[in-house]
Amino acid sequence: MVSKTQIEWRHIEEGDVSSTNDFCLQHARDGAASGLWISARCQLGGRGRRGRQWVSETGNLYASLLLNNPAARENIGTLPLVAALAANFAIKKALANSSAKVRIKWPNDILIDGAKVCGILLESEQVFKDQISVVIGIGINVSHHPDQALYKTTCLNSLGVSVSPQDLFAYLFEEMKYVLALWDEGRGLSAIRDLWLENAAGIDEDIKINLPNEVLYGRFIGLSEDCNLILRQEDGDEIKIAAGDVFLLDT
Ligand code: BTN
Repeated sequence: MVSKTQIEWRHIEEGDVSSTNDFCLQHARDGAASGLWISARCQLGGRGRRGRQWVSETGNLYASLLLNNPAARENIGTLPLVAALAANFAIKKALANSSAKVRIKWPNDILIDGAKVCGILLESEQVFKDQISVVIGIGINVSHHPDQALYKTTCLNSLGVSVSPQDLFAYLFEEMKYVLALWDEGRGLSAIRDLWLENAAGIDEDIKINLPNEVLYGRFIGLSEDCNLILRQEDGDEIKIAAGDVFLLDT
């Protein structure tokens, strides 16, 4: 497994790419080691979760981090929470003295005052017989944001925050190092879980979850040991959700 002491952190800044996730994975196939960040000015084929497009014009942050064999298989599923914390802390740094509320929406969207400012897409590939490469792709709306029918969106500049994608990336680079060290290949999961819960939106509130074939309603009461969402349904039953689109009903 990758140990935090072995990671050599690097950054390549690109111009126009298809997707920084694709670029990062290609570097992995070519033998690149963990700790490589690729950022780009714009993406022509930016991808979001569930096959959605991620509009990626110049002016926002698009970056992906490569991690090879980041943890034992059973711990890899908790990386989305780590990535969310890093993005959350980077955005909070950019907001500095602002009173705007930065919150994580399960599992790894970042909201400012209830509007989405950041999305994260983790992708993985068995690159070699003994190597799974995970790419953490992060998009943060800096100077523009798409109009979305599904949920509210925002960007940092429209909130009066004058930060560039490059400055924001520097924050993200440092915060990711910090939270990955805390996570410690999953050994520090309980600290990550606690931090995530401290920064989360919608705990003890009513939510709606869109799953591929059904819609669930209930109260978001916390995270399970393995970081699934625990939903208490109207009949009192508690169920664990591993993946889905969460909508906060009280905002
Ligand atoms: C989401 O749907 O919320 C996830 C969006 C992830 C977008 C980022 S931008 C950098 C990286 N490259 C991609 O093609 N997608 C991710």
